[in-house]
Amino acid sequence: MTRIRYVEPCGRARDVEVDQGLSVMEGAILNMVPGIEAECGGACVCATCHVYVDEAYGSTLCPPNATEHEMLDTVASERRPTSRLSCQIKVVAALDGLTVYLPERQT
Ligand code: FES
Repeated sequence: MTRIRYVEPCGRARDVEVDQGLSVMEGAILNMVPGIEAECGGACVCATCHVYVDEAYGSTLCPPNATEHEMLDTVASERRPTSRLSCQIKVVAALDGLTVYLPERQT
């Protein structure tokens, strides 16, 4: 299990233990973390699982592929350098303690 911290726009944080191999999006959905909609179920075609990742983990994450880059252009909230689609972040041991910040809105 890997601990992921989800922080809502109001600042409320929730720590969740997520099975390795799942995505950060799946960790949120399975634990009923509000703020991630994931309308496409992780197929990288909806951009409603947008998060801002803690910069400290930027080099630990695999960079977004071309499809994710394209979808990040369609997110409802501001796209920032730390923007990622949480369905594309696979939970691995090295991400223990990762903090992701939820955007104001997903649609
Ligand atoms: S769940 Fe649809 S793009 Fe991530």
